[in-house]
Parts: sequence; structure tokens; C-alpha cells
Amino acid sequence: MAVPRPQIRALRRGTLLLFLVPLIYSVSRLQPWAPEKGVCLPPPTAPKRPDHLVLGPAAGQDRPDRLQCRGLRALNKIGISSEENYSGEHVSFATVFTTYNSVSAGDDNVPSDSVTVGNSSYSKIERSMAILNTFISFIKVSMPRSDLIILTDPGSKISVNQGTATLLPVEGNYSRGNLMLQRIKTYIAFLEQKLVEFDRMERLNHFVLTDSDIAVVGDLGHIFKKYPHFHLAVTFRNNKGQPLNSGFVAVRGTRDGITNAVEFLKQVLGTYSLRYMKASRMLGDQLALAWVVKSHLPSAFGKFSKNEAFTGEVNGTSVLFLPCAVYNWTPPEGAGQFHGVPLDVKVVHFKGSRKRLMLEAWNFYSSTSKLSDMLCLILRSGRTKYDF
Ligand SMILES: *[C@@H]1O[C@H](CO)[C@@H](O)[C@H](O)[C@H]1NC(C)=O
Ligand SMILES: *[C@@H]1O[C@H](CO)[C@@H](O)[C@H](O)[C@H]1NC(C)=O
Ligand SMILES: *[C@@H]1O[C@H](CO)[C@@H](O)[C@H](O)[C@H]1NC(C)=O
Ligand SMILES: *[C@@H]1O[C@H](CO)[C@@H](O)[C@H](O)[C@H]1NC(C)=O
Repeated sequence: MAVPRPQIRALRRGTLLLFLVPLIYSVSRLQPWAPEKGVCLPPPTAPKRPDHLVLGPAAGQDRPDRLQCRGLRALNKIGISSEENYSGEHVSFATVFTTYNSVSAGDDNVPSDSVTVGNSSYSKIERSMAILNTFISFIKVSMPRSDLIILTDPGSKISVNQGTATLLPVEGNYSRGNLMLQRIKTYIAFLEQKLVEFDRMERLNHFVLTDSDIAVVGDLGHIFKKYPHFHLAVTFRNNKGQPLNSGFVAVRGTRDGITNAVEFLKQVLGTYSLRYMKASRMLGDQLALAWVVKSHLPSAFGKFSKNEAFTGEVNGTSVLFLPCAVYNWTPPEGAGQFHGVPLDVKVVHFKGSRKRLMLEAWNFYSSTSKLSDMLCLILRSGRTKYDF
């Protein structure tokens, strides 16, 4: 499948300020309405969602391999400061983030008036920008030596703080209905650009392509050391309908790794275009991803019920399957199927209506400097669907 080569140019680093942009959404901002069986409950009918933290009991308190909390204090600690345990692997994060000029009525059940988190109030416009900033902040804490790249529509009017992230416009159709398809195209264009620049790179640089509504709470460089042979990694969960999540993709920064990751993503893109254009705009990429894996590596589907990482070959690409519980952990909304926070959790995903919690968690961390305690807060309030 031919992918038009989008024009890429790096923008000068500017200031992370938002001027006159009527509405901004991140890819992940759209997630509240994705019907993810077993993970996200169906869209709520009650319009009133809490505008403040709601704490409930912490799941997993009877399990020694899970975070134990007393109130908001962690009794056992997750990982250790990644600075003290730096893997030595250099990682660049990339996220697709774009702006919109209008919101079509009917696909937004979040009230448009401003919401307050801590001492800041956010207009609708500012919310996803705040999510993006918080995403950046967590990475700066957990992986201070990593780079951050924001892949964006050349037409979107965002700029980022000097030194915190690089804005990289990639041509494409970022309209809402096309966003998930465009995201794969943007990833491909980005990685192809990295191949062009490959010989000029001074060091090996791996890539982690993610949604922006995540908090990185541990060092991800370890994946590349611990599993030295994969080209591309994705996260799985034990969910028949959607076992694979596209919100976290890791790519080994070798020429071979990037080349094979591009091949793999092109197959996902081709499958999406061919089979899933009519699927919900949020689910097409996950369905296409699962289809590609299933057609080349059906045995993978037997392993999703175990919570262990494994590798398999998908049409020439060595794919590492990582458990969502560690690399894409979502607070236990509803029934709490994750049974608490695994002690080795690396990535927390604030899917759907948990966006307020992401900012509240950051504020809590800012005042306590304790990631483990912050995870107790997330664990205890993750069942709530917030207003943000
Ligand atoms: C560093 O992190 C890795 C992976 O998270 C872990 O296996 C290892 O035990 C840690 N090392 C130390 C000294 O804590
Ligand atoms: C909010 O403002 C008060 C008073 O200025 C300050 O004490 C408090 O730390 C602030 N809280 C946050 C979350 O910034
Ligand atoms: C972009 O994609 C949307 C949704 O698929 C489509 O309706 C629109 O025509 C496309 N725009 C362009 C300029 O191709
Ligand atoms: C498998 O990979 C080959 C070589 O990269 C490619 O030409 C082919 O289209 C792929 N097969 C499928 C089913 O995508």
C-alpha cells in the first residue's frame, strides 16, 4: 500500500502557549466514547460527573505483588527512581496531537464550561493542552534523559516550551473521522524520516509512540535491553474483542528495527483502509492491528490470557507483546479487572473520562514527590468517571 510521503519539517522551538485556537483535542481526548468492552463502560447517561476527586477503596490489597496503600500512602514502593536505575538506552517519545476549529455537536457530552483542577481552571480549549503538558511533565520526571516529539497537523497552532519537546508537523488529513488512520500514517512518515536521518545519528535512539493521556512512571528503556530482539512492541490485554491496544508502540531504533516497524505499520494501515474504514473511528486501528497479528501469528491469541510478555514473528517483523497491566495500565473503572497496581507498573493510561485524574495525580505528585503515593491516589479514584 502506497503511503504518500508527507512533508516533514521541524519547527523552531517556541513557548508552550496557546493562542486563539478555538478547540484542541488530542487523539486520546476522543476516547471517552470508545466502547471498549470490559475496559471502558458504555457512554454514561448521567450528565453530571464529579468535578473533584472521589476516593474509593484500593483494589489488590490482599495481593503481595500489588501496590499496598494505607490512605494515600504506599506501603510498598513501585520501582525506584529511574535516574538511579537508568537503562542506558536512549528513548524518544512521540505523540500525535492536533487542533480543531470546531466541535460537531453530539459527539461531545462533556460540558463546555470551564473546569477547575487544583488552582487552575481550564476552558474546553485548554484541557487537552493541559493533558499534553502533564504527559510531558511525567516523562521529564520518569525519563529525564529522553526526548519528546509532538507530531502534529501543520495547521495546528501549538508551540512547545523551549527544551521540553519538539514540534514536528506532518502533512495529512487530521479531521476527526480520519484521525486514527492518520495517526498510523503519521507514525510511518515519522519513522521513515528517521531512516533517512539514520546515518547522521550519533547514537542509537529508540522510539515510543503513545497516546498523550498517559503518565510514564518508570523507565521504559529497559524493554530494549530485556528483550533484545524485537523490532516493534505493542500492548495486549485479556480482552477477546480488543486484545491489542494501539496507544503504546515501541520501536527499536536500529535500521532493522525501524524498517520492520514501518513494514508492520504499513500492513496495519493497509488492513485498516481495506477492512475497517466503516468501523468506529476509534477502533479501526485496534481491529486492524489484531487482524494483522491474527493472520500471521494466530498462536499469539492463545497467550493474551497470561500476563506475560512474549515475542512472535508477524510477516518478518519481530513483535514483542507487552502486558497492558504493566505498560498500559488503566485505573480499574467499574469492576476493577486489574486487581490493583502491579509493582512494576511503567505506564498509566488515563483513558476516557479519567482525564481529570491525570491532572489531579500530577498536582498530587508535585506536592509530595512520591510516585508510589500518587499511584494510591490513582488506584483509589480510578473508578470514577470525571467531568474533565
Ligand atoms: C532496574 O530496573 C529493572 C527493570 O525495571 C529491574 O529489573 C532492576 O532490578 C532494577 N535495578 C535496580 C538496581 O533496582
Ligand atoms: C493553590 O493555591 C494555594 C494558595 O496560593 C496554595 O497554597 C496551594 O499549594 C495551591 N495548590 C495547588 C495544587 O497548586
Ligand atoms: C479527510 O477525511 C475526512 C474523513 O474521512 C473526509 O470526510 C474528508 O473529505 C477528508 N479531507 C480531505 C481534504 O481529504
Ligand atoms: C508480508 O511482507 C511482505 C514483505 O514485506 C509484503 O510484501 C506483504 O504484503 C506482506 N503480507 C501481508 C499479508 O501483508
